[in-house]
Amino acid sequence: MASSSSSTLVTLVVILCCWYGGCQAQTEVSAVYVFGDSLADVGNNNHLGLSLLKADFPHNGVDFPGHKATGRFSNGKNSADFLAEKLGRPTSPAYLSIPSSSNNTDEFLGGVNFASGGGGVLDSTNKDQCISFNKQIDYYSSVYAALVQQLGSAQTQAHLSNSVFALVIGSNDILNYVKSSSANKLKNPPQQFVDSLISSLRGQLKRIYNLGARKFVFIGTGPIGCCPAQRHQNKTRECSVEANYLSVQYNKGASSLLQEMSEELSDMSYSYFDTYTALLEYINNPDAYGFVEVKAACCGLGDLNAKIACLPISSYCSNRKDHIFWDLFHPTEATAERLTSTAFDGSVPYVYPMNIRQLVAM
Ligand SMILES: *[C@@H]1O[C@H](CO)[C@@H](O)[C@H](O)[C@H]1NC(C)=O
Ligand SMILES: *[C@@H]1O[C@H](CO)[C@@H](O)[C@H](O)[C@H]1NC(C)=O
Repeated sequence: MASSSSSTLVTLVVILCCWYGGCQAQTEVSAVYVFGDSLADVGNNNHLGLSLLKADFPHNGVDFPGHKATGRFSNGKNSADFLAEKLGRPTSPAYLSIPSSSNNTDEFLGGVNFASGGGGVLDSTNKDQCISFNKQIDYYSSVYAALVQQLGSAQTQAHLSNSVFALVIGSNDILNYVKSSSANKLKNPPQQFVDSLISSLRGQLKRIYNLGARKFVFIGTGPIGCCPAQRHQNKTRECSVEANYLSVQYNKGASSLLQEMSEELSDMSYSYFDTYTALLEYINNPDAYGFVEVKAACCGLGDLNAKIACLPISSYCSNRKDHIFWDLFHPTEATAERLTSTAFDGSVPYVYPMNIRQLVAM
């Protein structure tokens, strides 16, 4: 039977992988540095007094250890937590939660998370409500300078070369474009807009590389048009074609950019995770992945629980493990865990040219 020969093949591949070290506990990474938006924010926005883009109130955190809201836009842990767990490390703390003192070297050596809800590739995205990607890199630059001052360049570079730099950015730029006026879209057509994002991203990734990063984990944008907030705007509750198209184009640009960079910079490696394909697969075949509700948010009010966000006055579902979406924009803990596992151990078409386990073993 075909199934027995394919399982023989799987066994063979597994044995070969183990033989070459792929199944061994990977070499330990020195630290995890995280950049991005609300998909990876572990509390930076709690420190932004004026921002409305916060998640430091119930029902966020209902499944987090201690059942408390921490600033994560989730019922529980997010991708930054699961990535750290997979790497056998504690979750890197939010940069703004680290007390400023004359010597933060120990904290900085342990890894730092700069991600901020609402953050985008463009400075104009949710301006004054979040830490833009550029500002996150500014903060990282000061971390880098502190490390070099304390440890010297060579030791700092050795540490950073063995660290993982995880990035999840772009969704907010796309969401803002989708809701912008048709006059703006005429002036700045979709592909021109995406090209401008990729052009900014090029400079940003290059800058992080120039500050010592060598192992990049890039988490592509998901099927943004399928989040409850977007479906809610469609009479038949279908996914927004416009938002999904922009996400696909952005991801194409980002993955080509990474490939170009790794060809140009021989000591740079990366793992690109195609969130779009993976999450759409869960949405289209929920049974196969243990999901039941793929359209409505768990927490919120109104149609699809997407008319009103997840606020203390909102209701939330009891079956959180079988919902793809926690609130009108964000995945549940269950979704984040499944996505991170696939990024860590999966293969094409979900993750390439290598998965995260292979990246850290390099
Ligand atoms: C700062 O911390 C690092 C790491 O613990 C240590 O090696 C260094 O001596 C400290 N420097 C100062 C000025 O305290
Ligand atoms: C809803 O989405 C479908 C599929 O993208 C589209 O054909 C339809 O025009 C949309 N309806 C509205 C009211 O936007």
